[in-house]
Amino acid sequence: MTLINKVIINKQTAKKPIWIMRQAGRYLPEFREIRKRNKDFIKLCLNEKLSTEITLQPLKRFDLDAAIIFSDILMVPHGLNQKVEFKKGFGPILDEIRINEMSTLNEEKFTKKLSPIYKILSLVKSNSVTKNKNIIGFIGAPWTLLVYMINKQSPKLKLKNNFLNDIATNKKILSLLDKFLKIHIKNQIKHGANIIQIFDSWAGLLSEKELKDYVYDPTIKLVEYTKSLNVPVICFPRNIKNYKKFCEIVRPDVISIDYNIDPNLIVKDIKIPVQGGMNPEILLSDKETLKKEAKRYMDIFKDHPYIFNLGHGVLPETNPDMMNYLIKTVKDY
Ligand code: CP3
Repeated sequence: MTLINKVIINKQTAKKPIWIMRQAGRYLPEFREIRKRNKDFIKLCLNEKLSTEITLQPLKRFDLDAAIIFSDILMVPHGLNQKVEFKKGFGPILDEIRINEMSTLNEEKFTKKLSPIYKILSLVKSNSVTKNKNIIGFIGAPWTLLVYMINKQSPKLKLKNNFLNDIATNKKILSLLDKFLKIHIKNQIKHGANIIQIFDSWAGLLSEKELKDYVYDPTIKLVEYTKSLNVPVICFPRNIKNYKKFCEIVRPDVISIDYNIDPNLIVKDIKIPVQGGMNPEILLSDKETLKKEAKRYMDIFKDHPYIFNLGHGVLPETNPDMMNYLIKTVKDY
């Protein structure tokens, strides 16, 4: 059994596994080298050879317990024929959403459009570097995808006014997302993913009374669907105010936490396995600070099933030596 499965299934607490969100990415010179020659991010995500190579890059360098496939949550809007582009220094830009056209899309066409992603999973799975490690497939949560599909850019830069007013349209999009996210989960599992992580990066934008319709209800359906395929599911409702309530309602196998929440509260309130938490900025400091902070998380979760990770993706400015030092610290704990 993999170390991560021992934590999730057997609730093992003695050894802490580690993987890192955005472990394959811009802080690695070997990634930047490939990226420089491949300006179109969506095309790169659909390049079987290169995306497999990028997925495996961090595992060749570091003693990580899982591979997460190099892809993006916005590949699903792309699969639904909403044009997605990534502009340097700006982030994603999406084209107008055409819901009627989306409604005519079937499983076969969607799967065909995203088929390179599934091929990448098979290639990652069959590579000896991932032997005895988990392979993490992922989706964006319906709410976070709805935000990008309607707002058409990151809400960090600008959030459209009256965002939630058109309830009928929102419902239609959420219903389409439910259908196609299930297909995307099923396809990833079929090709080798043995954990699914659901990224809800913008869960923190909603008020308590909006959470039911936009976060809890749509996420429960996907969590239950993934469980029905016998694969564990990790939820990351970033910056949600009440993690305890989220866990009680949505019931994921693992809860991934951000760096604004006090881990002491989490360990007291939450019984299921926990992942993540440490601020990615700590990796920009010095080794002593890094060791101290990593140990603080591990001390707090000493007697709790815990997967080490960060509270959000690793920053592009991170020195790979610091990443290596972090992983060693966790492994030697
Ligand atoms: O974690 C991994 O290593 C796997 C690959 C992965 C990427 N994106 C690759 C990527 C995963 C799991 C994601 C998830 C993702 N994508 C999320 C959820 C997690 C989060 O960060 O909140 C979101 C919101 C996106 C959408 C997205 N993709 C944005 C907003 C951006 C641009 C800004 C940014 O954070 O980089 C991306 C681009 C992106 N996705 C890059 C990578 C490596 C950078 C590409 C580049 O410019 O070279």
